[in-house]
Amino acid sequence: MIIIWDLIVLTVGREDTGKRSGESEAEMIVMMLPSDANPKGNVFGGVILKHVDLIAGLVAKRHSGRANVVTASIDRMVFLKPVFIGNALIISARITYVRRSSMEIEVNVEAEDLDDNSKVHAATAFVTMVALDKYGKPIKVPHLVMEDENDKKRYSEGELRMNSRLKDAGKV
Ligand SMILES: CC(C)(COP(=O)(O)OP(=O)(O)OC[C@H]1O[C@@H](n2cnc3c(N)ncnc32)[C@H](O)[C@@H]1OP(=O)(O)O)[C@@H](O)C(=O)NCCC(=O)NCCS
Repeated sequence: MIIIWDLIVLTVGREDTGKRSGESEAEMIVMMLPSDANPKGNVFGGVILKHVDLIAGLVAKRHSGRANVVTASIDRMVFLKPVFIGNALIISARITYVRRSSMEIEVNVEAEDLDDNSKVHAATAFVTMVALDKYGKPIKVPHLVMEDENDKKRYSEGELRMNSRLKDAGKV
């Protein structure tokens, strides 16, 4: 029996036992430098976007394991507050929804004024990452295990957003 099970695992692949969002969530803190900003000291949106993309990729990679992960889309991103040279950019990200090969990652950006430790919410973004196999074909990732009502709420909101972005992209 054990030999037959081993054969199934070898031929079909590992059973999808799922993963919790806590297993892949991430936070990074980056000091904003003069090279990140315009001459008046405002940090470029593109610099923030780069970090958003990076952390979303990291979370997706943690969730999907060996697969290569690429960015399929980043939803419209609004910069709510300015970020300045010398601020610490605090970026946190977690997976909210998984379809088959695609994963929605919610990324929150705060800016901390290191002189007085005050923080402002600078932006939120939803990034869709897609897992690819070694031939570049989309590959199934572990399903998302939901632990409580908050997880379920985030998941169903993520599903609604995914349906709407796929509609906008002409994919459904
Ligand atoms: C993302 C990409 C792999 C999708 O390829 P595709 O040929 O459309 O493949 P599919 O139609 O099979 O879609 C694969 C998955 O991507 C999702 N997807 C495709 N376009 C999407 C979009 N615009 N937004 C969100 N998800 C999208 C599909 O829903 C599907 O998800 P599922 O497996 O969970 O159902 C492909 O467009 C690509 O390689 N893009 C470039 C990615 C990249 O290099 N990014 C870095 C910046 S250049």
